[in-house]
Amino acid sequence: METKFIALTVNGKKYEFLSGSDSIVGIVPWNETLSDTLRQRLDLTGSKEACGEGACGCCTVLVDNRAVSSCMTLTSDCNGKEIITIEGLEDPVTGELDPLQQAFIDYYAFQCGFCTPGIIMAAKGLLIKNPHPTEEEVKDALSGNQCRCISQYHVIDAVMHVSKQISI
Ligand code: FES
Ligand code: FES
Repeated sequence: METKFIALTVNGKKYEFLSGSDSIVGIVPWNETLSDTLRQRLDLTGSKEACGEGACGCCTVLVDNRAVSSCMTLTSDCNGKEIITIEGLEDPVTGELDPLQQAFIDYYAFQCGFCTPGIIMAAKGLLIKNPHPTEEEVKDALSGNQCRCISQYHVIDAVMHVSKQISI
């Protein structure tokens, strides 16, 4: 069975894996999800896996600045890509939170917090692409993120607050 090297940059750090058949010990199986690689191999457990089938958004991370469900993304398809997880948002030097993380705190935009990393990463993906979205665009971008604890308006307010601070 053919094997190949895959290189990922995760939160600014480069990782290389051998990918191929799951019958070879220590190898990343070709069908391993990015969610499993991040959580189980790299110990980046901030993004959560809930539904495991692309329906809840809890596992959202950025791949080349695009928000994706990591439970529906194969690691073997991410060769050469840059991945950012919730752990990669804070300033690596000062440890300061990303403005979105801070706004979620300031606007009480979470309760249990299980879904929050996925929502923040989806919002981050939106603001990278569209720094000044309308409320409707925020709702649309977050429509794939399910939260059972809070009223969605706290989240919308937090994202709109950050978008107003972005000067472009
Ligand atoms: S766990 Fe990936 S979308 Fe629900
Ligand atoms: S804050 Fe609890 S599920 Fe969203």
